[in-house]
Order: sequence, then structure tokens, then C-alpha cells
Amino acid sequence: MYEDLLKPGTKYANLLKPIKIGKMTVKNRMKYAATVDNFANSDGSLGDKEISYLEERAKGGFGIVTSMGGFTDPLGKGYMGQMGLHKDEFIPGMKKLSDAIKKHGAKSVAQIMHTGRYAHPHEYGLGDAPVGPTAMAAKIPRYHPCRELSVAEIKQLIEDHGQAARRIKTAGFDGVEICGIVGYLIANFLCAWSNKRTDEYGGTLEKRARFYLDILRRVRKEVGPDYPVICRVNATDHMDGGNTEEEYIKVAKWLVDNGADALSITVGWHESNEPAITQEIKQGHWLYLATNMKNEIKNVPIVMAYRLNRPDVPDKAIADGIIDMWEMCRPGIADPELPKKVTEGRPEDIATCPACNLGCFMRIFFDSTMACMINPRVGREYEEAAKIKPAKKKKNIIVVGGGPAGMEAARVAAMRGHKVTLYEKSARLGGQLNLAGATPFCSDWNFMIAYYANQMNKLGVKVNLNTPATADLINKAKPDALILATGARQARPNIPGVDKKNVVMAFDVIEGKAKTGQEVLVWGGRAVGVQTAELLASQGKKVTIVEDAKRIGRDINAFNIWGFRHRMAKAGVKILLSSKVESIGDQGVVVNTEGKQQTLKADTVVIAMEMEADKGLLEELGSMAEVEEIHSVGDCVAPRKAYNAVHDGFRVAVQI
Ligand SMILES: Cc1cc2nc3c(=O)[nH]c(=O)nc-3n(C[C@H](O)[C@H](O)[C@H](O)COP(=O)(O)OP(=O)(O)OC[C@H]3O[C@@H](n4cnc5c(N)ncnc54)[C@H](O)[C@@H]3O)c2cc1C
Ligand SMILES: Cc1cc2nc3c(=O)[nH]c(=O)nc-3n(C[C@H](O)[C@H](O)[C@H](O)COP(=O)(O)O)c2cc1C
Ligand code: SF4
Repeated sequence: MYEDLLKPGTKYANLLKPIKIGKMTVKNRMKYAATVDNFANSDGSLGDKEISYLEERAKGGFGIVTSMGGFTDPLGKGYMGQMGLHKDEFIPGMKKLSDAIKKHGAKSVAQIMHTGRYAHPHEYGLGDAPVGPTAMAAKIPRYHPCRELSVAEIKQLIEDHGQAARRIKTAGFDGVEICGIVGYLIANFLCAWSNKRTDEYGGTLEKRARFYLDILRRVRKEVGPDYPVICRVNATDHMDGGNTEEEYIKVAKWLVDNGADALSITVGWHESNEPAITQEIKQGHWLYLATNMKNEIKNVPIVMAYRLNRPDVPDKAIADGIIDMWEMCRPGIADPELPKKVTEGRPEDIATCPACNLGCFMRIFFDSTMACMINPRVGREYEEAAKIKPAKKKKNIIVVGGGPAGMEAARVAAMRGHKVTLYEKSARLGGQLNLAGATPFCSDWNFMIAYYANQMNKLGVKVNLNTPATADLINKAKPDALILATGARQARPNIPGVDKKNVVMAFDVIEGKAKTGQEVLVWGGRAVGVQTAELLASQGKKVTIVEDAKRIGRDINAFNIWGFRHRMAKAGVKILLSSKVESIGDQGVVVNTEGKQQTLKADTVVIAMEMEADKGLLEELGSMAEVEEIHSVGDCVAPRKAYNAVHDGFRVAVQI
């Protein structure tokens, strides 16, 4: 499957066709989506960090590069480093951004986004509550209850959007986009659940849509008839009390009737209790929403992102007339050169985003600057230290370990002109990612392995599989530098009965090396335990997880864990929290839950407890190492995540 999707020379003729949005001609069908990255200054002005970040996407070949959503007044600021569109004094900085994008042949579009109930005026110094159509409590603890907007304030907000559009046009952007999605202010008005007003801005769908349409009309009046205006609108809310798909088609039609030149359609709210953007959603799953819209709306392009992380599906969707343009956020964070690679028929070189959400969503929601698991350069594009430059002195480098840390180190070192040899003791590259990718709903990790394996090959890294590197091998080879990326292994806790035949390791279960009975107790409820449990449940086994912490999956990020919880509940996986396995005997497994003992029946016990850093080779080398420069990267430093592995590998290789 992966080989097919990664075939060098693949043509994506549909993605390369120019397209018109209003009077604007765009060179291809690839749009970099609006992305709040927290790279703006605290007052909302823009600096080098944001400009160089987006310039790199323009250079990478996107037809349109969209700015992050900018707030129209400080009460609409939802992110620590969100762009501000509320002051004329920001226009020169905005102009630098539009110039940087246009320089590379991309069209520059700036997005207007008032975050409504998701704003943080307390934290960002205003001392007011967030605003919404109706006062209500927040569903997510991160947010505060909002207060109700007066009609006068609503009119002011409409005017603010018009003024923001004026600044955008004055700053030289080619177009403007209005964000009416995923639970921000406009969506709050559109949805009956969050809009209980009884005046002209609440009640029927028509009245709830008035705020959006008033904004659109005000923006249109400000920018004139020929200036491209794109409207982002949900196609489904996935909220109890949210709008139906039919209602959104009506809203979309009204937007077009009122001057939208293109629609970017989206899925869900931040508060939705259905997954929209995680790996469990298959590529192209949401395209049916575009089909429904297309059936009703023929006269403007439909643009869509959401779990379209490889070119194959969107290329076909364009050919089939389902969408007109492939929008992408995370795939463009992960690989700014994705369009260039598509254009050049090099799908095998795309660093595919596996929707891990570790660097992007997880960081921006918690007031950090955006980063990316697979792309350590994100937000550092302008920094000399993050540039992959030719090495001053070309070295012979040995990398031990073919997991993400070792392969990223090898990739960057080889790009810099070093001669790199990699040793991997197993028969394949990928390290633990092979295990991650073998569990249900996580197969996108395999694209990451394939990407790295291709880069090893193309960059001339000499890969030796089935070759454990030993101190002897290293000392004989005498490299100028040694990078240890030996990863982590599973720890085997020492309790009575742990050596019994029916006790197996989770890694062996995932790899299919160890068989389990029908009733399985998984000991450990972090990522490895949770993913193993899900795998076993998918095989029809009766699974119980025993976890010593108060919650399951504490090393799985907040964006992904609830999907696991939901699926495990559906599959009937039993979870015992605050519980310890004390012994494994013939009568069963003795489990202690907060001082209360019980004996559980299990045909097999699967160990999925702590990981331990594999420092074997480092210790073997000891003081006898005949290498001047030794670096350790990834899980062999401390067991962590793919994010840390890749970032460690990059950091060392970029300066070695
Ligand atoms: C089931 C599972 C699910 C996971 N899910 C996620 C997730 O969703 N998100 C996330 O970010 N992370 C996840 N991880 C963790 C992530 O895979 C690891 O953090 C990452 O792979 C560590 O990378 P590494 O290169 O440091 O080490 P590893 O991936 O462990 O690779 C080390 C490599 O070194 C080789 N090696 C060791 N010693 C030698 C030697 N002497 N000679 C030659 N080769 C040697 C090993 O065979 C191995 O291939 C998951 C892990 C597992 C097991
Ligand atoms: C870090 C991050 C920031 C985002 N910021 C915005 C934003 O400012 N405006 C917006 O309309 N959507 C925003 N989105 C949503 C994306 O534009 C996109 O619709 C969504 O991520 C799904 O597409 P993808 O699967 O290609 O990532 C953001 C997404 C991410 C990951
Ligand atoms: S952090 Fe993960 S999900 Fe976010 S863009 Fe990077 S690879 Fe994709």
C-alpha cells in the first residue's frame, strides 16, 4: 500500500491546475490553511518569526498561503501569539508578510478570526470575560464562561471586521478570509446551542446567520466587488444542538449569495465529542461533506482540509469534482515543500504528518509557540542555527539505531555533506514507530518510516540492517563522531510470578511474536498499554488494563487520548485505575486497588509498564571508546516521544 502511494514520478495533474477564486488566478490547487502558531508578538504585531515561517510555505510552492486568523479587537484574542488586525500601526508588518508570500508566486490571503467564547481576555490583560451571543459556562476547563454581547457591541464587531479587511487590503494581501468555524465567535452565533438570543441575531437559522452575513457584507463593502473573499464555514458541527448538515448548506448558499468567492468547509468544534482530525479518521473521510455542498453550490470553488495528508486522495477528489482545492494545515506545517514535491512527482520525499498533534495543537492551546514533531525547523526558519548548512569539516559519522532519532540525525548529517553509516540491529528501519504503526488506527506512522527510509537511500546513508553495533565495531571503524540512538526497551518489573509462561511483553504482542489467550490483563495503561489493549480488543479478546495512575494514557496528548478512551469503552476494555499488580499465580493475578486486593482471572498477562533507556552500547564503550565525539539522542537519553527523538536528532546533526 505505502509503496503505491509513494511511487516516484507519480503525476498529480489535478493538483497542478490553476484555479480562479473570484478574479484571482491561483497557480495550483494547494492552499496553506490559516494556522494560529503563536508566532506574533504579544501585542499582535508581526515579526520575523511569523514572516519567515509563512515565507517558507510560499517558497515551498503553495498556490495560496493564508495567514493565521487575526483578532479584530483584543476581546477576540484566543491565543497568546495571535496576530492582531485591530490597529493601523500593524499594517507595515502585515505588508512585510504579504510581500514575503507574493515574492514566491503564491497568493497571500489574510484571515480574520474573532475567537468568541474561546478567547482569553483575563490571561491576555483585559480583565473582561470572553464574549458570545449568549452568556454561558464553558464546557472545556481551559475556557472561561462568556458574557452576552449587546446589540451595540455586535454592530461594533461587524464594523471591526470591516476595518480589519481594510487593513488587510491596504497591507497588500491578495485576498481576505473570514473564519466562521469550529466554535469561534461567528460559529457561536450560527449555532442554536450557543445562541439563545431572541433579537434579530438569534432564533431561526436566518437570524443566527445574520451576524456572519452582516460581517461578510461589511467586508465586501470595504474591499470592493473584485477583491477575493473566502468564507470558512463548518459543514457539520458534531455538537448536541449544533447545526445539521442541511442547515450548513443553507448557510453556505447565503454566503455565496452575499459575495463569498470561495468556501472553505470544515468539521466540528473544539468542544465536539466526535473525533475530526486524529489518525483514526481515514484519509478523505470528510469528503462526503464536500460532495453534499457541491451538489447544491456550483458557482464558487469548494476548498477543504481535514485528514487529507497525502496528495493522492485530494488529487482524485478534484478529478471527481468533489472539491476544487486541497487545503492543508498540518501537512503544510510538517512539510513546507509538499507542493514542490507534488509538482516534481516526488511523493516519496514528503514528510507526512501523522496527525500526532504533539507539536502543533498541543502547544498552541497551552500558550506555547507552535512546533512540529516531524519538522524541527518550524518557527525557527529565520534562525541561522536551524539552517541545514554544509559542514565546515566533513566527518565520518556512525549512527547507531534506525529509529526516528537515528534517522533524523543521519538525514541532516548527510545533507550537510558528512559521510554517514547507520547500524540497525533489527531487520528494518523505524524502531518503535513500527510498533506504533502496527496498532489500530495508527498506521500513518508507517508513512513516517517510509519517508525516512527513502531519505537514507537518496542521501547516500550507508544503512546496515541486522547489524548490532558493538564497542568493538565502533572502535575498529574509528568514526570522527558517533551518534547513539539506541532507543528504549520495555522494563520487566520484578514481582512474584512475572517469569511464568503466560506473561509476555507488549512489544512482542504487537509484533505478533507472542500469542495471548482469550482473556488478557494488560499491566500498564500508558501509550504502549493502551495501544496494545486496543489491538487485542480488535482481535476479539476480553481485555482489562491495570494502571497505577489515576488516569489512563497520561503520556498520550489531550487531543488524542479521548479518542482512545471512547474506542476502548466501545470495545468493552475494562480499566482499573490506581491499581497495582502484586503477583501472578495459578489462581489468577492479584491486583491491589487503593489497598483493596482482588484476584483477576487472566489467560495471559501483557507487561506494558515503564520503558527504560537502552544505554547498553554507551556503557559497553565506557572509557574505552576510541571516538572523540559521542552524542546520545532520542529515547536512549530518556524514554519519551517521537517528537523528542526527531528534535534531538536534528539538534545534534545540524551542528556536528
Ligand atoms: C506502541 C507504541 C506507540 C507509540 N506511540 C507514539 C505516539 O503516538 N507518538 C509518539 O510521539 N511516540 C510514540 N511512541 C514512542 C516513539 O515511538 C519513541 O519515542 C521513538 O520511536 C523513539 O525513537 P528513538 O529513535 O530514540 O528510539 P527507537 O525508536 O527505540 O529506535 C532505536 C533503534 O535502535 C536500534 N538499536 C538499539 N541498539 C542497537 C545497537 N547496539 N546496534 C544497532 N541498532 C540498535 C533498535 O533496534 C531500534 O530500531 C510509541 C511507541 C510505542 C512502542
Ligand atoms: C496549530 C493550528 C492552528 C490553527 N489555526 C487556525 C486558524 O487560525 N484559523 C482557522 O480557520 N483554522 C485554524 N486551524 C485549523 C486548520 O486550518 C485546519 O482546518 C485543520 O487543522 C484541519 O486541517 P488539517 O488536517 O490539514 O490539519 C488551525 C489548526 C492547527 C493545527
Ligand atoms: S506536530 Fe504532528 S500533527 Fe502537528 S503538524 Fe507536526 S506531525 Fe503533524
